[in-house]
Amino acid sequence: RLLIIDFGSQVTQLIARRLRELNVYCEIHPFQNVTDAFLAEFAPKAVILSGGPASVIDKGSPRPPEQVFELGVPILGICYGQQVMMEMLGGKVERGDGTAEFGRAYVTPAGESLDLLNGWFLENREQVWMSHGDHVSKIAPGFRVFGTSPNAPFAITADPDRQFYAVQFHPEVHHTPNGLTFYENFVKAAGFTGDWTMGAYREEAIRLIREQVGGKKVICALSGGVDSSVAAVLIHEAIGEQLTCVFVDHGLLRLGEAEQVVSMFREHYNLPLIHADESELFLSALDGVSDPETKRKIIGGLFIDVFQKYANEIEGAEFLAQGTLYPDVIESVSFSGGPSVTIKSHHNVGGLPEKMGLKLVEPLRELFKDEVRALGHELGLPPSFIGRHPFPGPGLAIRCPGEITREKLEILRKADAVFIDQIRKHGLYDDIWQAFVAILPVRTVGVMGDGRTYDFACALRAVTSVDGMTADYYPFTHEFLGETATRIINEVKGINRVTYDITSKPPGTIEWE
Ligand code: XMP
Repeated sequence: RLLIIDFGSQVTQLIARRLRELNVYCEIHPFQNVTDAFLAEFAPKAVILSGGPASVIDKGSPRPPEQVFELGVPILGICYGQQVMMEMLGGKVERGDGTAEFGRAYVTPAGESLDLLNGWFLENREQVWMSHGDHVSKIAPGFRVFGTSPNAPFAITADPDRQFYAVQFHPEVHHTPNGLTFYENFVKAAGFTGDWTMGAYREEAIRLIREQVGGKKVICALSGGVDSSVAAVLIHEAIGEQLTCVFVDHGLLRLGEAEQVVSMFREHYNLPLIHADESELFLSALDGVSDPETKRKIIGGLFIDVFQKYANEIEGAEFLAQGTLYPDVIESVSFSGGPSVTIKSHHNVGGLPEKMGLKLVEPLRELFKDEVRALGHELGLPPSFIGRHPFPGPGLAIRCPGEITREKLEILRKADAVFIDQIRKHGLYDDIWQAFVAILPVRTVGVMGDGRTYDFACALRAVTSVDGMTADYYPFTHEFLGETATRIINEVKGINRVTYDITSKPPGTIEWE
């Protein structure tokens, strides 16, 4: 296994993600925990020293134990890791005086070839991402230069005999496009064969959940989405009946969704599940409300009350399970410290654990969405379930602009089901990030048969996106759109006009509210 010593960089988790992509098992440990005894016990096959915000020049700045360099294994130092390596091995680091470098830079080769750089420098230079104030001014004995950038003469240095590598840039980030090749070369040099899998992650996660929870009880808010479902199934596998799931049904789900969730988890997974059918409560609280933020606040607030009410009935619960993913973790850490504008109040169970005095179990905290899907697959969740489009916490409420009525919700559910059926039939579901129908708060005049109709109009929405942050409308063919409109008008009583939303995000958002 590979050890990543964390010095507090914002992107340390991305190193782990790259290594998982290469099927290499690694663990991240904060530098404070890495003692000589820890190293002896861990016995890493290779070590990566992460970046970090500190300055090597400052007194008391973080260091790995000297012992790291005596292990006889390959070591890669990144950014702060590079500087700490140089400083400890006899080189010199100086404060940036106009040599600070942030953002895109180009590294060009210097000197001989290096195993770490196989497949690099394809066009005699390579784009990398820099983020440093200090810089190395003298490299340590035994090191040679293999790559330079205009502001970093020691961008890539190495002591090939000892397999010590030190780079000033961040190979793990997206903006170092060839970074994966770099890591691939490093793990190859360290003798990893790339045989670690999600199956192994599952085993390890189960061990950690058991260790954390012991004999105590855990409750989990199951939404029916991929993240909370994978978390619940994983935790259930670890601790069985010590887990109880509460499925808060706010009456704003899609057609047949509540039944599906309940039957899948109760019957197929035999998971203790409370179906909190509180649609009456939510719908009456939303009666007459048309302001989007007010809707979100009402639903979010009630969700917490309802969850708490049911959870209180489970005696002795000490833990709350959540399907928090790594991107949620990064987003919750303030990068710039500057206040950002709230576009929409997102619905989640934030604040609940403190209020209820619960500790958190978050077994997906280190994973990205596609890795959660892979884990779900590993746990045997049906592929159609794992590949489902995201669905927002406030549900259909935000796809029903204006006042929400039971009549509108019913029409919306039916139209949405037809649209999704069309998309599936045409084999487009997996090409689309999210697709749904919104029912518009207007009635329009139409003619069907020989009669006049005066019914609701609806909008189809389908977008492509990588992460939901930006999105573009999906380019359906006119045939597809025409066929879908005809089906909706014929099959769904209450709708006599269909439109297609061709707004991208920004300036639009994916949901209508
Ligand atoms: P917007 O509409 O902001 O949505 O472009 C971006 C993504 O987030 C989803 N979404 C939510 N998800 N709780 C959620 O869990 C919410 O309150 C919420 N609001 C929007 C939306 O479906 C899209 O995938």
